[in-house]
Amino acid sequence: MKSVKVGICGLGTVGGGTFNVLKRNAEEIARRAGCTIEVAQIAARDTNPKCDTTGTPITADVFELVTNPEIDVVVELIGGYTIAKELVLKAIEHGKHVVTANKALIAVHGNEIFARAREKGVIVAYEAAVAGGIPVIKAIREGLSANRINWLAGIINGTGNFILTEMREKGRAFEDVLKEAQALGYAEADPTFDVEGIDAAHKLTILASIAFGIPLQFDKAYTEGITKLTTADVNYAEALGYRIKHLGVARRTDAGVELRVHPTLIPADRLIANVNGVMNAVMVNGDAVGSTLYYGAGAGMEPTASAVVADLVDVARALSCAPQGRVPALGFQADALSELPILPIGECESAYYLRIHAQDRPGVLAKVATILSERGINIESIMQKEAEEQDGLVPMILVTHRVVERNIDDAIAALEALDDISGNVVRIRVEQLN
Ligand code: HSE
Repeated sequence: MKSVKVGICGLGTVGGGTFNVLKRNAEEIARRAGCTIEVAQIAARDTNPKCDTTGTPITADVFELVTNPEIDVVVELIGGYTIAKELVLKAIEHGKHVVTANKALIAVHGNEIFARAREKGVIVAYEAAVAGGIPVIKAIREGLSANRINWLAGIINGTGNFILTEMREKGRAFEDVLKEAQALGYAEADPTFDVEGIDAAHKLTILASIAFGIPLQFDKAYTEGITKLTTADVNYAEALGYRIKHLGVARRTDAGVELRVHPTLIPADRLIANVNGVMNAVMVNGDAVGSTLYYGAGAGMEPTASAVVADLVDVARALSCAPQGRVPALGFQADALSELPILPIGECESAYYLRIHAQDRPGVLAKVATILSERGINIESIMQKEAEEQDGLVPMILVTHRVVERNIDDAIAALEALDDISGNVVRIRVEQLN
């Protein structure tokens, strides 16, 4: 199997996550890419205690990596505008593809960088620059390519959303929550980028360009942060049935494009109003598809690495496959499909909601519990309602812990055979999805 050689610049939160994901999921990634993706060199001033880099050459000089003839793809994860720009342009000059998570760089210098990349025939991929792990760039550029995009609106700064959520739910003070976001690695090196809306404006600038097909124009984005919001505003909005969210909005009008970032009241029952903590969500409205919503972790070590690695797989596919194979039909290379069997439903595992109609007499509950326990079924909760007037039967509702379905089938058959139980047992599967 061929190998694509990658150089990672920066081994902080995102660089460390990228290294670890590439290493941990190497086999699965190779099955998708059609080649192995090998970290041939890392450029970092410090090691990352969360990464075991044994065997991978490390240099303190990013420019040594960028000019290393062995490397096919440079992954820029150092952030900022200055050195990052220089190293990305140098990488392009040396004919290397670039993957970056640097939204500031793309929003401010993207027009120049893409022009240079076109001249040199290399790819600059930046999925991780917007909304961390959510593949929203791919969704707009590929999945929604049939549409004329009308507008998009997003919660695209995890730190800001985390602060607003903690203020609303726990009444915590702004500064205190910000410190926690910094400690968790969500906040930018300069956290004013998060709380003054600059980070969100970088991301919105990128989204608007790919949505409407316009050059990147960060300097024209209206930017208002969350620093002036008070707990009182948050509570009043709540009393009126609204949530305050820090939104980036880009809308196409007859006159031009609205490009604005500001705190916004949203009806509390909208899905996007319920996006909390560090999570991000982007709504995109297209003329054919209508409104769509993309949700997920907008920051953090491995969610962002997920997007960086997806870009690497894209580059590797472009390098190693015939044009029709850039995105294999099933996402995996045709000759790498696995023989994993599909489980029959009896072998699947779930928790269960059971509704039983039982006679209201002593000992019935004990019999039900015995039938379940004999089959290793653990009851999580149980509720018995008033007897129903017509038939004197009591509805008994149970929620079980997770168990293999065949055990529940067997238990239900035994329950339905009891004289004390009337009719069929209602069974609904329960998934916590957490
Ligand atoms: N500081 C950013 C945020 C990191 O909080 O969303 C991800 O871009």
